[in-house]
Amino acid sequence: MTPHDVAKERAGRLAASHVTDGMRVGLGTGSTVHWTIVELGERRPDIVCTATSVQTHDLALSLGLEVVSPDEVGHLDITIDGADEVDPAFNLTKGGGNAHTREKIVAAMADRFVVVVDESKLVEQLGPFGTPIEVLDFAPGVVSAAVRSLGATEVVTRPVRTDNGNLVMLAHFGTIADPVELGARLSEVPGLVEHGIFPGSMVDRVVVAGLDGVRELVNDPRA
Ligand code: 5RP
Repeated sequence: MTPHDVAKERAGRLAASHVTDGMRVGLGTGSTVHWTIVELGERRPDIVCTATSVQTHDLALSLGLEVVSPDEVGHLDITIDGADEVDPAFNLTKGGGNAHTREKIVAAMADRFVVVVDESKLVEQLGPFGTPIEVLDFAPGVVSAAVRSLGATEVVTRPVRTDNGNLVMLAHFGTIADPVELGARLSEVPGLVEHGIFPGSMVDRVVVAGLDGVRELVNDPRA
């Protein structure tokens, strides 16, 4: 394990301390929240979970956690998930693991959305990672052209399908001046199922792992 991997594990496990008995918990996808799920599997609090991907569903089940569908649980107390970029206003880029559509649904179901990242994910402005978009496989060229008309200089189709059976593309906008505005414009493109920009208003706190420890950034709307 590299020091970077050790930091991810520490942060992922620490984020699990926000989960207590009786909670309904949304489980994110990725290599950092993986450790949150492992920690919950070891601790086995009395919780009901819902998962944001087949991968997470299978991991949680294999660790003995109770996993039900989003419709069965209806509402969540907390969702914990990773991110690819976090800006100072808590806006996120997500979808590095092609799961952002389910991740956005499960994050929006929760009273509290806790994000867990290593320090390399903190950026001044979203954009360098690219913006993942899930696209219906009906008119991908038309959707891609619409995304270019919103300012993307490059739109690359990934060689995978999402768990929903759709295409996934990475759109490059350079640094994004107003992610919330761009997210709203992307949401208007017909055939674009979901994009990976999560507005900071969804996020309650970010657990950040550095090589010298873990810290928590709290998104206080009054600050
Ligand atoms: C999956 C995601 C992940 O949460 C994101 O890519 C971060 O993953 P990792 O913790 O492996 O860096 O959005 O769609």
